[in-house]
Amino acid sequence: MRTEQIVILSPREIEKMRKAGRLAAQLLQHLEPMVKPGVSTQKLNDEAEKWTKAHGAISAPLGYKGFPKSICTSVNEVICHGIPNPRQILREGDIINIDVTPIVDGYHGDTSKTFIVGSAKPSTQKLVEVTEKCLYLGIGEVKPGAKIGDIGAAIQEYAEAQGFSVVREFVGHGISNVFHTSPDIPHFGTRGKGKKLRPGMVFTIEPMINEGTHESEMLSDGWTAVTRDRKLSAQFEHTIAVTEDGVEILTLPE
Ligand code: MF3
Ligand code: CO
Ligand code: CO
Repeated sequence: MRTEQIVILSPREIEKMRKAGRLAAQLLQHLEPMVKPGVSTQKLNDEAEKWTKAHGAISAPLGYKGFPKSICTSVNEVICHGIPNPRQILREGDIINIDVTPIVDGYHGDTSKTFIVGSAKPSTQKLVEVTEKCLYLGIGEVKPGAKIGDIGAAIQEYAEAQGFSVVREFVGHGISNVFHTSPDIPHFGTRGKGKKLRPGMVFTIEPMINEGTHESEMLSDGWTAVTRDRKLSAQFEHTIAVTEDGVEILTLPE
């Protein structure tokens, strides 16, 4: 649990978050056409690092608590924090979440999407579609006066109604000039519970939705989180700001 004070960002800071968020979204857009059978996750990483530098930004994951690469690439049963690797080659029918976080002028833009490599079977397509809808259902709860629990409740209700499960160990987070800060944003929970949302709060919503069990396991590299049953996991993430009348998604490409 994160226990720092929840920071309210000034309009000037939110403008910086918009710039970082836009660059993050554009980076994902730039990487998307490379997601094809035969590409290695290392190649995606290297292109991301090169593109980020060329745009005057810094890759927040690189060296963060010892993370060794510039982006996270989480394939199939990997829930999150997959480490790019030259020996890991994408194949037709795989799913891959690419999670990017450039720092622009000190502020972080954190976004991720799950891509299908080529085409996949209907049950895989459904997992990816449901997970993206979970993100937007969560975002749809955000407005001043709503509670943090409303976000998780909306996500959990829909995911479970579709026959999937919600990861518990990894949650959304406050973000600004700090990568991960208060508040925690669980993707499960109870309506009406938790802290009240206020204009100027900025955080991520990043549901990880599993085909089978919600339980996770950590691989021996200390980073890669996988599903205990090795069934598929998908994730989508946006960085958002609470506004006077609702919500602004900061990680859109324009
Ligand atoms: N971008 C991830 C998130 O959504 C965090 C990655 S931390 C790293 O919060 F160290 F694994 F890169
Ligand atoms: Co992220
Ligand atoms: Co995040």
